[in-house]
Amino acid sequence: MKIKHCEDLNTLVSLSKRRGFVFQSSEIYGGLASCWDYGPLGSLMKLNVKRAWWNAMTRRSDIVGIDAAILMHPMVWKASGHVDGFSDPLVDCKDCKTRFRADNTESYIKEKKCPNCGSKNLSEERNFNLMFKTHMGPVEDSGSVIYLRPETAQGHFVNFQNCQQSSRYKIPFGIAAIGKSFRNEITPGNFIFRTREFEQMEMQYFVKPGTDEKYFAEWKERRWNFYIKYGINPENLRFKDHDKLAHYARAAVDVEYKFPMGFSELEGIHNRSDFDLSQHSKFSGKNLEYFDEANKEKYIPYVIETAVGCDRLFLAFLCDAYREEITTDDAGKEDVRVVLGLHPEIAPIKVAVLPLSKKEELTTVAEKLRDQLAEDFDVTYDETASIGKRYRRQDEVGTPFCVTVDFETAGDQAVTVRHRDKMTQERVAMSQLNSYIAAKLKTFNQ
Ligand code: GAP
Repeated sequence: MKIKHCEDLNTLVSLSKRRGFVFQSSEIYGGLASCWDYGPLGSLMKLNVKRAWWNAMTRRSDIVGIDAAILMHPMVWKASGHVDGFSDPLVDCKDCKTRFRADNTESYIKEKKCPNCGSKNLSEERNFNLMFKTHMGPVEDSGSVIYLRPETAQGHFVNFQNCQQSSRYKIPFGIAAIGKSFRNEITPGNFIFRTREFEQMEMQYFVKPGTDEKYFAEWKERRWNFYIKYGINPENLRFKDHDKLAHYARAAVDVEYKFPMGFSELEGIHNRSDFDLSQHSKFSGKNLEYFDEANKEKYIPYVIETAVGCDRLFLAFLCDAYREEITTDDAGKEDVRVVLGLHPEIAPIKVAVLPLSKKEELTTVAEKLRDQLAEDFDVTYDETASIGKRYRRQDEVGTPFCVTVDFETAGDQAVTVRHRDKMTQERVAMSQLNSYIAAKLKTFNQ
């Protein structure tokens, strides 16, 4: 058997559309560039991605979760440096009107030429702020300007004291959140890899200055292990240190994933020093020092940040899971089985219930079984087409188990469970099916 992995994002774009993972936003109007909607299976899978991250972060004794507002006081973005510094240098071509980034466009860097038409009739470089601006309230004057947050992290910093005091956690402790962020990216693209509206999963770990390097190393290891636990092939992952550090950062590393377009950033892990809390102290006038009762000392904590895009991780899971199993029979005829080998916690549907025929004696039992399974799992039901075709449909969307109700079921009160990866089959009593599936899901990696 030959195995082919995903070499082209378009394979996933079309699978996503065909099977209901991701659709182009506003498609019936021709779509809105770089905006995507998660469909029936995609929205389930995205919830699973978030749940996996959320549980890894908050089912600990030292991290709390929050859900902060997207709209924040405009001073937050002054303090954070986003108003003055969150921008890309842009150049306009006066001939063909193309607008491009000055810092990553090869023809411009090398020869000061437009990447589209080659003209040298170009504007000066101008900084373009990536934050989406809008107005709060009915009056559109400069006093009502407000931004859609470009990162969730600032919600953690401004709530540092609220969280520390209400939870009574001592340093080191962390704050985690999942939420939408918005950036008016100049060059979005590669499907859901870079979009203007996306979801972030960020965690800020507040530590005593001097212990920051130790915690930075710990979080690097933990985040790596998270990806391995959820089945990402380690050969497709690597750490990449930043060549240039932001002015506030003491260390920064990206976790990169080998997407079809090459190794690209999946997650950032940063040692942000005391920059954020110091800035918010300065701009808000509030003392954000932490008082360490045991040692009777006060300090502004350092922050170790882990920041990953939910959509980008969703894409990495899809890329990593996609495989085509190609077999050739004696007559030379090729058969291709498309499988999404997703970790079962990430897979949108855990079990598919498939009556062998549409006869009522089978469908009545199968429908009852679907309801029994749906008490514990996300389940689907399919009675159309041949059983082989139905298995393939489920393989293609990553369903780990298919349960077939057949003509023996009425007699032995049992069903056949078919496993996605090895395609092995087992007979299991219907009364035991929920606990059987639950146990298999739990021990999937072992
Ligand atoms: N608070 C730090 C921060 O926001 P970042 O490296 O700019 O750091 C963190 O973003 C992660 O958010 C990235 O590693 C990426 O996974 C995701 N991300 C950033 N911009 C994105 C975009 N335009 N579309 C999709 N995901 C994005």
